[in-house]
Amino acid sequence: MQKYKIVLLSGDGIGPEISEISKKILKKISKKHNFEIEIIEKLFGGIAYEKYRNPAPEETIDQCKKSDAVLLACVGDPKYDSLERELRPESGLLKLRSSLNLFANIRPVKIRKSLVDSSTLKKEIVENVDLIVVRELISGIYFGKPRGNITNTKIPKAFNTMVYDSSEIERITEIAIKIANQRNKRICSVDKSNVLEVSQLWRDTVLKVTSKDKNICLSNMYVDNAAMQLIKDPVQFDVILTSNLFGDILSDLAAMLTGSIGMLPSASLNNNGPGVFEPVHGSAPDIAGKNIANPIAMLLSASMMLKIGLNENEAAKSLENAVDRVLSKGFRTADLNDGSSEVLSCSEIGNKILDEI
Ligand code: IPM
Ligand code: MN
Repeated sequence: MQKYKIVLLSGDGIGPEISEISKKILKKISKKHNFEIEIIEKLFGGIAYEKYRNPAPEETIDQCKKSDAVLLACVGDPKYDSLERELRPESGLLKLRSSLNLFANIRPVKIRKSLVDSSTLKKEIVENVDLIVVRELISGIYFGKPRGNITNTKIPKAFNTMVYDSSEIERITEIAIKIANQRNKRICSVDKSNVLEVSQLWRDTVLKVTSKDKNICLSNMYVDNAAMQLIKDPVQFDVILTSNLFGDILSDLAAMLTGSIGMLPSASLNNNGPGVFEPVHGSAPDIAGKNIANPIAMLLSASMMLKIGLNENEAAKSLENAVDRVLSKGFRTADLNDGSSEVLSCSEIGNKILDEI
């Protein structure tokens, strides 16, 4: 029997609640589809800082490197905002991404049929939304050097550097091409090349790489316009290819097309080695511990893990179908409440999904 070793990082805030149900579901699904899944739980984020004064302990990173895949819930809490930057949970996340060389962040934005009325946008605008944001994840302004504060000036100054070399743009473009070829073959590269040199290099490199594949239809868009177009006519997009910061912002924006950010999964990948699968939403400290969080983004991330990370396509599909069946029966968590459906707690909706497997 095929045996997989996955690391589960439940992190902070609502993380433990949405992880609990994910564990149960992964156990059941593996039994049903005849494979074994060993779940190794490790401390990561604020909770790891509490114990080790390090949000991304070496031991956690090492276990992740040795695994078949990593399932991560979320990290962060405002109580850590006053810590030195490298001790904050978010820095732990960035360290995990760079240590595993996860340069490609894949964020599918697909509206589920039963949720077309849950979006804040009109049904006609969102009903056929099916796009993927391909975000560069370990370079750009998030990691660029130099960075820091200048304190010996009259007034405080701080700065960051948005930098890419062409090889970093080439490899993420290759990933976007691969994904586009499995879909409608359209890539929209998003940049700010009317103002930024780094974006001009981005645009030129994307054009060079994509022109080698005659099947791909490339368009370019400035990021401000892309934000507008995502609200105005999101159906025009197939694959959005963009840099780290722009991808961060546009993927939250795109998430709302699907009704709630509580619906959006993601995969962070390398060309080889384990990927990290995590919901796009954060740790939601305001609702943590109340058992009202939406576990679906986490479960859809687990489904991406089964499919991309473990190659268990059938199991991935059956988890996704279970989620859809529960939604189409009218069950919702509070974030998706449209006033006419039955609102369940995190564990209740989790158990409904479990029952569908
Ligand atoms: C995300 C998050 C992270 C990011 C934060 C928590 C560091 O917002 O995964 O989108 O900015 O990449
Ligand atoms: Mn984000």
